[in-house]
Amino acid sequence: MTEGALNNALQGKFTYETFIDPDRGKIRWVTYPVIQNGRLVNILQVGGSLRNLEKVLQRLRLILLFLFPATLLLAVAGGWLLTLRALQPVDAMAQVARRITAGDLSRRIPVHAGQDELSRLAETFNAMIAQLEESIQRLRQFSADASHELRTPLTILKGETELALRQARTMEEYQETLASSLEEIDRISRIVEELFLLSKADLGEARLERKPVALAPLFKETLTQMELLAKEKAISLRFDCREETTITGDSDRLRELLLNLVENAIRYTPPEGRIIVTLSREGSHARVTVSDTGIGIPKEDLSKIFDRFYRSDSAREIHPKGSGLGLSICRWIVHAHGGTIQVDSTPGLGTLFTLRFPLRND
Ligand SMILES: Nc1ncnc2c1ncn2[C@@H]1O[C@H](COP(=O)(O)OP(=O)(O)O)[C@@H](O)[C@H]1O
Ligand SMILES: [Mg+2]
Repeated sequence: MTEGALNNALQGKFTYETFIDPDRGKIRWVTYPVIQNGRLVNILQVGGSLRNLEKVLQRLRLILLFLFPATLLLAVAGGWLLTLRALQPVDAMAQVARRITAGDLSRRIPVHAGQDELSRLAETFNAMIAQLEESIQRLRQFSADASHELRTPLTILKGETELALRQARTMEEYQETLASSLEEIDRISRIVEELFLLSKADLGEARLERKPVALAPLFKETLTQMELLAKEKAISLRFDCREETTITGDSDRLRELLLNLVENAIRYTPPEGRIIVTLSREGSHARVTVSDTGIGIPKEDLSKIFDRFYRSDSAREIHPKGSGLGLSICRWIVHAHGGTIQVDSTPGLGTLFTLRFPLRND
């Protein structure tokens, strides 16, 4: 027994000690004082070999030494593979997006079955591209239509001028050519003017007054201006004012609106027809209708007549020099006044435009 262990035992304490035995390796000793009635009566010493325990520890150390790097390697490789797989759809999206940026808007991102975040993202992305494609298509169509509409009068102008210059003409012939040229120039400048107004409206730069406008006198005056045009075609033009109404807005624009609608009605109504403009109140709105007994509009064209440059085939036949911009301007004027415009038509019987504007509340 070591001195330290004996001292501890005398004080009533345990002692753990480890010795090296040449044969049995490490030995672990415990010295245990046996105390009875407060007196040390005996000292118990028990020892055991640590060889087996050491062996187990050694093995464990070895296992850990190999297992840990292997597990780490496996985890890294697995993580890398998983990330690669998870990000593959994102990579595919990026590739499609790159091609779309290059101008190919007909492409779509493949959407995999399932409702995970990535497929929802792909769907959203696709919807966005579809919208973009539609807007660009509309823009291209618009440019094509605009250049086409401008090319026609320019071609006529060029042809007539060249013809007049081919040989010496009489004074009357020159005057005739110039008068016809002026007509085409008027048409070109009208298209350009209307396009300019519409693009300003698109940009929100078209100015609109906001003053009280009494509709009845404004309409009466405008319709008086148009009576001559109607009379030329033996069309009766009537104004039926059921109630006076005042709205907030721009009287010049409102006059232009009625002018466009009635001009269309006169143009697309055969001789001896009837046009009626009514004005009334409907709740908190002013209600305006313009009805005619004209050629009408086929059902499939109803949704298109407010589009820029849209003209039905029969309209082109009746009036080859129209611009197809009048109703686009009408719709803008109505919307700028917080109103709505609606059309009902029966081909061969006639057309009814109904407009509603919020009344001015004093
Ligand atoms: N009162 C109407 N009756 C029949 N068709 C109409 C009438 N108003 C408009 N439309 C149709 O709507 C088209 C667009 O009208 P608009 O924008 O004013 O252009 P435009 O009068 O120069 O043709 C016309 O070409 C015609 O086909
Ligand atoms: Mg028109």
